[in-house]
Amino acid sequence: MAFPTGKRIVFTGGSGKAGRYVIPELLKRGHSVLNLDLVPFPDPSTNIMTLKTDLTKSGEVFNALTTHFNFAGYENALVPQPPDAVIHFGAYARNMLVPDNECFQANVTATYNVIEAACKLGVKKIIIASSETVYEVCFGQGDLEYTSFPLDEDMDVNPMDSYAISKLCGERVARGFARRFDVDIYSLRIGNVIEPHEYATDFPSYISNPKTRKRNAWSYIDARDLGQICDLCVQRDGLGFQIFNATNDTITARFPTRQFLEHWCPDTPVTRQMGMWEAPLSNAKIKDVLGFREEHDWRKYYNPDQ
Ligand SMILES: NC(=O)c1ccc[n+]([C@@H]2O[C@H](COP(=O)([O-])OP(=O)(O)OC[C@H]3O[C@@H](n4cnc5c(N)ncnc54)[C@H](O)[C@@H]3O)[C@@H](O)[C@H]2O)c1
Repeated sequence: MAFPTGKRIVFTGGSGKAGRYVIPELLKRGHSVLNLDLVPFPDPSTNIMTLKTDLTKSGEVFNALTTHFNFAGYENALVPQPPDAVIHFGAYARNMLVPDNECFQANVTATYNVIEAACKLGVKKIIIASSETVYEVCFGQGDLEYTSFPLDEDMDVNPMDSYAISKLCGERVARGFARRFDVDIYSLRIGNVIEPHEYATDFPSYISNPKTRKRNAWSYIDARDLGQICDLCVQRDGLGFQIFNATNDTITARFPTRQFLEHWCPDTPVTRQMGMWEAPLSNAKIKDVLGFREEHDWRKYYNPDQ
């Protein structure tokens, strides 16, 4: 497969669960990547340089966006330039890792710092990690119902937990800065991230206990498909501020979507005809607008009928 010319991408939080798969997908597609994280990239064989950077410190972020990607950078007469794109994943990735106020302030501050530094340094493409949790139910108190299905990017959302609110605040920062600097900032509402080995370890219980997956809207994103999504976002210019659900195509259930939702969410309105196996957290927009085509449907790795 021929890929277009690679871009220089600064990736934050690349040492985490998602980044360790997304970065190799970006490298495969010809990009070069510098990882900003507090800890090294977990796979030393990939030759990724991690610059230890605390994203909650604005000065560190500004500096990190103008460093070499590797030692070869010193061979060039040119001093380090800002990257072509910034992909921002670094965060407390859920509640209950730190107290709520720390999760909120660290996530919002880091997202603000990354967006501000990138915009002020002239970076024209920024991609940020938002979350499925903004659809209210994931970390909501009690057994909440979704507003309607499919969950799409145009819905008004009002999550109640500190992590989801921090992600929503990040989207508002992105929207304002995209307007002020006339740049592209794409916010990915990422579904539950699944690593390759988790189809074997986790999907059997996901499928046999559907109630446990209500908080993820019976949807997910394969970590490698998330890599394809990040590449598509890097490639496609000129869309300004956008929100995209980043999920795979199909519902994680034994039964077709309509039948399944009628059983598990009988009082939740369905606002359009959904595909037979369509995931409730819909990826229709990212397929239509960016041309996402999933490569890792869960049924390739786990047969629920065996
Ligand atoms: N994992 C999921 O299911 C999921 C779902 C929706 C959204 N997201 C979002 O996707 C992104 C990646 O998630 P993940 O599962 O890989 O998370 P993770 O916790 O595995 O990785 C996050 C990375 O960010 C780094 N980090 C945290 N604070 C930092 C700071 N102040 N400075 C520099 N680096 C810092 C951590 O060291 C870690 O390597 C996050 O923004 C998360 O909120 C994740």
